[in-house]
This record gives sequence, C-alpha cells and structure tokens, in this order.
Amino acid sequence: MSDIRRSLSILKKINDIREIDEEFQTDLEISSLSNYYQKKNGPALLFNKPSGYNNSVVTGLFGTYSRLENVMERKISDISQDFAGLFEMLYSKPSIIEGLKLFSKLKNFSVDEVGNGPVKEFNGDITLDDIPILRHWPKDAGRFITAPVVITKDPETGAYNAGTYRMQVYDSETTGMHWQTQKTGAMHLMKAKKLGKKLDVAVAIGVHPSILFSSISPLPEGIDEMSFAGYLMENKVEVVRGETVDLRYPSNAEIVLEGYVDPDETREEGPFGDHTGYYTPVDLYPVFHVKKIFHRRNFIYHSILVGKYWNEDVPVGRAIERIFLPILKFQIPEIKDIFLPEEGLFNDVIFVSIKKRYPGQGRKVGMAILSSGQMMFTKYVIIVDDDIDVTDRKEVLWAVSTRTDPSRDIEIIKMAPTDSLDHSSIYQDVGGKMIIDATVKNTSEGIKRKWPERIEMDENEIIKEKMKKYVI
Ligand SMILES: Cc1cc2nc3c(=O)[nH]c(=O)nc-3n(C[C@H](O)[C@H](O)[C@H](O)COP(=O)(O)O)c2cc1C
Repeated sequence: MSDIRRSLSILKKINDIREIDEEFQTDLEISSLSNYYQKKNGPALLFNKPSGYNNSVVTGLFGTYSRLENVMERKISDISQDFAGLFEMLYSKPSIIEGLKLFSKLKNFSVDEVGNGPVKEFNGDITLDDIPILRHWPKDAGRFITAPVVITKDPETGAYNAGTYRMQVYDSETTGMHWQTQKTGAMHLMKAKKLGKKLDVAVAIGVHPSILFSSISPLPEGIDEMSFAGYLMENKVEVVRGETVDLRYPSNAEIVLEGYVDPDETREEGPFGDHTGYYTPVDLYPVFHVKKIFHRRNFIYHSILVGKYWNEDVPVGRAIERIFLPILKFQIPEIKDIFLPEEGLFNDVIFVSIKKRYPGQGRKVGMAILSSGQMMFTKYVIIVDDDIDVTDRKEVLWAVSTRTDPSRDIEIIKMAPTDSLDHSSIYQDVGGKMIIDATVKNTSEGIKRKWPERIEMDENEIIKEKMKKYVI
C-alpha cells in the first residue's frame, strides 16, 4: 500500500523536494525556511538533521497544486469528474453495465484490516520528546503537531471519524486537542461525556497524503475518512487494530500515538500562528494523554506550516473546492460554479454563480450555501449570474457594483455559527452572515425600469479578418 515514503520518492524523481543536510533547529528555523520556500513556490523540504533529533522532518508536501496532485497520484479534475459521474449514476437508475462501473469505482471505498503493519515495528520506546515536533511562529505557545490524523469512534454508533486538529505539546506525554466545537471529534467527546466514559483516540502522523487530505476534507458526519481515502487512492487503506485503544488506524503511518481524552478535562491552548494570519488567542481545549507510541524504523515526521494565504492551506482548499463542487451542485442544482478566494481564508468568503430562473433565487442559494456542511462558517456569500466568471475577482466586483442595490440585495443573518478562529465575530463561535445577491433583477424583484444590455464588441468575420494584420 502507498505511504508517505512513496510520495517522497515521487517528489525526488521529479526534483520537487530539496534535502537539507545542514542542522536546522525545530524551534523556528525549520518553519522559517519552509515559510520562505512556500512564499516563493519552492520545492518541498526534507530536513535530514533536525538539531538534537535522529529523525527527518518533511514540510511543504501540499505546497503547490501540482505537488498535491503528484503526491496524491491523481488529477483533482479527474476526481471531481469521477465524483460528478458517480452522483449522476446513483440518481439516474443506472443500467446493469453502468451499475457495474459504479461498483468498480466504489470497491475501494472501505478499509482492509490486516494483522500487522510497519507502524507496529517499534512501540513504547519513545515519548513526544523524541519526535522533532516544530515550533512554527515566534509567539506560538510551544511545539504544535499540525498534520495529525486524529481518529475517534462515535461512542453511540461506532462510526469512525478522522479529522486534522492541531495538538500543542504540553510535556512528553500530553498535548492539547484543538477540535473546534462543531467538529466531529468534539461531538464524539460530548457523547462520551454523556456515557460517563473517556474517549479513545489514535493519532496517525506521516500518512499517505490522500489519507491526510481525506481527514481535512469536510465529509458529512458518518462517512469514514479512511474509506474515502481508499476511494481517492483507488486502493483500500490498510488498517491495523490498536493495542491500548479500541480503534484501527493506517498500518503504515510513520507514527501513531494511542491515548485518550477525558471529557472532564480542559487546559489552556495557544496562542498559535493560524491560517487567519493572526495568532489565535489562548482558549480552553481538551487534553490528549498518550498511552503508547508506535512507529516505523527511521520514522519521518510530517509537518504543515499553517499561516496566511500563501501557505499550504491554499492548494488543499482549492482541491477541496473542486472535488466537492459536484456534491454541492447536486444539492443546489442551479449552481454553475463556486470560488473560494484564499484571502477569504476559504471559509469566510464564497462567490457562487447560478443559472437564475425565478425571482428570489439568489437569496435562496445564499441560504442553502450557509446550510451546507462546513460552508456554514462562510461570512460573505456573493451570488452572481452564470455570465460572470467567479474565479475573476474583478468580474465579481463588477457584478456587485452594477447589479445590486444595498437596500434591496443584502441580507444580514444574525447569530449563526462561525468558525472558532474568527476573532472578529460578535461572540465566540456565533456571529453574522451577509448574502449579497448580485444577480440581474427582474420586475418581480422590484425593477420597474428597463435593465440595460451589457456591452459586447461585435467581432464579425469581416472585422476579425481585418484585425488580423494588427494582432499584438
Ligand atoms: C493544516 C490544517 C490544520 C487544521 N487544524 C484544525 C484545528 O486545529 N482544529 C479544527 O477544528 N480544525 C482544523 N483544521 C480543519 C479540519 O481538519 C477540517 O475542518 C476537517 O474537515 C474536520 O474534520 P471533521 O469534520 O471530521 O471534524 C485544520 C485543517 C488543516 C488543513
């Protein structure tokens, strides 16, 4: 089965990873060079000699869109097309042949449980102090694990979840667990509390990029991220059973931390230099206790530098946008396209183009977006017609300027869920939303005057022919 080592060898082959053999400190030095490379669109980095540690650190695996595709060994547009086809087939009563095709695409949507795996090679011989976990930004409270796959099970239904939630290292055997209040891990902990139980948690670090991508993806609750990763990889994920936890996890992760979270315990977490471009302030979060650490021989530690809009969130966010568009279109069929600008942090601003048929449809789509999965965190939804290219910020602003009257086309919604990282919302986790309906308005929407025609140059064949001489 594919693992992170395979991804590194792919990048080595195409010269998209730079090995650093000089000693670099895990305290700010590795992150400084990683940030510089990320800003310059440089290659991924493999630090072979983090000062004071015996193991390598890799950063920047998702640093560019093409690198993300290379390490996942799939074109994002293919996955997206595949997904769209799948949905069409599912709902269009497929023929037997189509049904078989569908089945063959879904055959990897599960896991393969195996008795043993490379991650089980060593256990109990190291603590968190032996892992080259980084301090990323100067005012970070300490060392943070930023690319973990945090695996839990719903205490009531037994459904698995994997999410990527940062973990601040407190000491050699405890960390923070920064699952935000609306996330599935937090929901599992709430259920454990009701049952008066601690929650078993397994944290896999250094997994195949498709597994990490799946863990970051906003999958609906109840869909197993490990199965989704199998679908992405076109190969079932091999998992092994935990020894001290009732959980299974990827058999060839570089490191797995087995442990638990006690629902009655919280501790101050942060500050942490976040993808908002600010330090997220100190807040109370649950605590993860490590019971046992499993790891491969010469394990590689994978870290993601979280930061402002040039960082690794961007290729990841763009890929998620493309892959999940078919599902969104399925729920809201009038959608033509969406665009999540990176400077809007992917979860604060969305541009949506629609094929408008009836009055009020812009607002209807805006409300539907705000009710769709993690898109509930969006603060500003801008709806435009399908003649506007949503990837062109100027076109969108032109539509807002020429197709809206603020007294009619802006809807403010109060006291809705916001991202926990949003320090500007009126309250923590609760705040306002704005829908801007920048579609062309019709008489039912109050336009009594004639709506003007947009100007287009009439480049007929004669003119085109004449212009050829003057091509610049
Ligand atoms: C590098 C990175 C770090 C992240 N850190 C956190 C975090 O600390 N807390 C959190 O709730 N979400 C974090 N996220 C977002 C979640 O991984 C994402 O919302 C995921 O879909 C949550 O999974 P869930 O719906 O199964 O809870 C992070 C995403 C990335 C790319």
